[in-house]
This record gives sequence, structure tokens and C-alpha cells, in this order.
Amino acid sequence: MSSKDFIIVAIDGGAASGKSSTACALSERFQLLHVDTGSFYRAVTAELLRRGVSHTDLPAVRAALAGLKLGTRVTGRRAEMEIDGRVAGGEIRSRDVNENVSLFSALPELRQWLLSYQRGQTGVARRHGFRGLVMEGRDIGSVIFPRADFRFFLRADPSERARRRVAQGQQDTIHERDRLDSSRKTSPLTCPPGAIAIDSTRLTLEEVVASMAAPIAAYLAAP
Ligand code: DC
Repeated sequence: MSSKDFIIVAIDGGAASGKSSTACALSERFQLLHVDTGSFYRAVTAELLRRGVSHTDLPAVRAALAGLKLGTRVTGRRAEMEIDGRVAGGEIRSRDVNENVSLFSALPELRQWLLSYQRGQTGVARRHGFRGLVMEGRDIGSVIFPRADFRFFLRADPSERARRRVAQGQQDTIHERDRLDSSRKTSPLTCPPGAIAIDSTRLTLEEVVASMAAPIAAYLAAP
């Protein structure tokens, strides 16, 4: 998909599988823009909830989406979604959003609406002088960038993932979200063929990052 001047790294996995921490570390190591697509789905969910739109009312969802203007703000190495010029705050991690985000993100209309915005993050990364981007989510290696230079899929035991969320001080419905994210018809969470699968249950963050960074560094160093 890209030359070595600009690399694309895709990281997929379930809730609390380690995507954000590893993406953050890789963005720093290789000067990549860090794009957390879960935060995009969360920001849109928070906005729709704020407007009183239910995921069961498709005409209302369509009408609300048609009226939203998206932009991207780059803060440090991170891409943040702007909706009508505003970046959402802590509300995107609220209980309400945790409970609703998988319901909204299962809607094909919403996924389609976000597709070109997500792909357009390459342009944001280039404009800001990054060497590429690392994008995390559920369907990055399968749908958004199926020909990314590197595609990783992270797994971890459910009990370990629940422990990580508690350690982060968050109340999250990770099992329910995983069930919904994996069983939806459009772009379900799945390890795409050819992706590098890593089970992080018994690995430290440093070990997981090292196993991802090694092939990237080797690729960049090769003539
Ligand atoms: O990564 P996260 O747990 O913050 O993501 C929140 C939700 O967003 C997740 O439960 C499903 C949805 N999501 C998605 O459907 N596709 C993506 N690429 C990223 C997130």
C-alpha cells in the first residue's frame, strides 16, 4: 500500500487487549501518527446520545450524521476527532458511552460514514510530517487498510483484560462489547488472514511492543 517513506501499521483486537498502549509506544518509536478509531466511534456515540438519538431510530441517526462536520486535531502524536470544531472530553469513556458504543458501531450506515474519514488520516499524518500512522481498532487490518504494511491482532484472556480495565480505574462492559463487536454483520472483530496474532496475556507491555517493533525496524532498515 505504501512505500517505506510512509508506513501504515494496523492493530486490531478486543477491548482492553493492549491496542492503545502498544500503538502509543510504536507511534513514539517510529514517529507515527497514533489514530485510535475506538475514540472516533466513542466521540460520535457521545454526540448522538447528547442529541437524544437512539441506535434503533435509523432515520434519526442518518439525519444527525448528515449534520455533523468532522475534522481532526493533532495533539502531540495523537489524532483527535473534532465534531463541529470541538474535541470531546472524558465523556467518551463514560458508562453511558461504554454501554452504547457497540450498538451504534454495529450500524452499517455509521461505519460507512466513518470509512473515508478514517482512511483520510493518512493525509493528516503526511501534512503533519509523520513517517506514517499506526491505527488501532476492530477492522483496520480487514477493512480500512487491508494492505497495510503491518497488521497485528492482539488477544488476551478475558480475566486479564478485565483486570487491566479495573487497573485503569474504568468501568467497562468489555465482554458484552466483545460479543457485540464480534457478532455484528458489518466488519466484525476478527483476526484477518495474514495478520500477525499476538497473545499478550502473559507478556509485559515491553515484550509485546518489542515483538511488534522488531519486524517494523527490520523492514525500515532493509535496503
Ligand atoms: O477501542 P475501544 O474499546 O475504545 O472501542 C470502542 C468501541 O468502538 C468498540 O466496542 C467497537 C467500536 N469500534 C469499532 O466498531 N470499530 C473500530 N475500528 C473501532 C472501534
